[in-house]
Amino acid sequence: MSLSRLNQPRLKLTRSAELLQRNSEVIPGGLASINRKADPCIAFARARGSRLWDVDGNEYIDYHAGFAPYILGHNDEEQNRAVVASMEQGLSNFGSGPSEAEGDLTRLVLECLPMAEKAQFLNTGSEATAQAIRIARAWTGRDHVILMQGGYNGNQNVVAANLMSTKQQLGGRQIVGDEYPLVPMTAGIPEGERKVMHAVEFNDLSAVETVAKRNPVAAVILEPVLQNIGVIKPRPGYLEGLRKLADQHGFLLIFDEVKTGFRASLGGYQGICGVRPDLSTFGKALANGFPIAALAGRREYMDLAISDDPSKRVLIAGTYNCHPVPVAAAIACLKKLMSSKLDVHGKLERLARRLEDGQRSLFAKHGIQATIVRQGSAHCVYFMNSAPNNWWELLNGHDFEFDARYRRALIDRGIYNFPVPVKQGSISYAHSEEDVDLTLEATESALKGFK
Ligand SMILES: Cc1ncc(COP(=O)(O)O)c(C=O)c1O
Repeated sequence: MSLSRLNQPRLKLTRSAELLQRNSEVIPGGLASINRKADPCIAFARARGSRLWDVDGNEYIDYHAGFAPYILGHNDEEQNRAVVASMEQGLSNFGSGPSEAEGDLTRLVLECLPMAEKAQFLNTGSEATAQAIRIARAWTGRDHVILMQGGYNGNQNVVAANLMSTKQQLGGRQIVGDEYPLVPMTAGIPEGERKVMHAVEFNDLSAVETVAKRNPVAAVILEPVLQNIGVIKPRPGYLEGLRKLADQHGFLLIFDEVKTGFRASLGGYQGICGVRPDLSTFGKALANGFPIAALAGRREYMDLAISDDPSKRVLIAGTYNCHPVPVAAAIACLKKLMSSKLDVHGKLERLARRLEDGQRSLFAKHGIQATIVRQGSAHCVYFMNSAPNNWWELLNGHDFEFDARYRRALIDRGIYNFPVPVKQGSISYAHSEEDVDLTLEATESALKGFK
């Protein structure tokens, strides 16, 4: 299959615009999750494998992957069959008693995560991170939480701060230590809650130490690789250092693996770095796009949900927790990810390397200063001369304006990366070498177009 407009960009988005307009009459902003609104605001209608089609009939190779869940690709036939079969068996969300499937899923998840002892399931990553923090607070009897500047851990009050703060919001200077200003992502966070949230710069151990010395910290929560501002990796020793600080100061180390989980490796990023978090959260690739999330960790923390001591007991409950449809989807997804015959992660690595190598030589050929950072199938092109170690380096080094033009030029040519600078791209098992080569062809055409 080839993309007809690869070298002749002519994107018509008339129906997308009409749909947004019509929806805006009844939905604030015209769509259900405001993070989906970008320019161009394309309304997609259909997806299969590595491809997307919008309501105007344009076809794209997809690297956005719905903000990363689609590790197998869109509409995976085997997964779809497993979901339909679960419904045909008369399964329902009984809302009473245990289910066989939730036990099966938990055992599979724990097989992938040898450092975790127990797991629980929720519907979204945001629920999982909020529960993780609640457990940390219940265990430690403390309230303060440390977050990373440039990290995203969900929409709940306790973590909704400091994602892509502007220079102005940061006071125009690099912050060291614990003086980082809190930059809420939402109105409506009570003053009292703000006072117990501390943002620090990623890869800065001394900042965490300073906050922990001055405040009763319950937890540090972080994506072990920052993947909501591209792909920013931990420096050697950073995660190990956090583990030590957590032990010294008695707070919990929470890895938010909602993006890295099951994608960076079958065992997430903890399976690569070997650092044991106390708790970790998962979603996205766990079920290849179906809504389910997991919270996993050490037995003593997870068992707070059934503590005999009511003052320590943590409420983990939800009408739709382990709904049979996403559970069937997750089991089907994990079985494929775990299959040595399919070697999903091997294929992802080969494709991602092919893309990275191709992009690198194209940028060199066309004299564009770019640094590609990749963690397995998750990748990002930074238009700067080195890989950023934190948000401040990115904010000062990256050419955001060029990034926006680059993304738009690729979209015009049928390659869909989310049209917001430094948003990470994801490759799926359904992508092919041909897809990668078409992507490189479109990249070359886009780069020529800039001259
Ligand atoms: C690292 C991370 N944690 C948590 C979340 C929140 O997950 P959800 O959108 O499913 O609530 C996200 C969502 O993008 C995420 O990237």
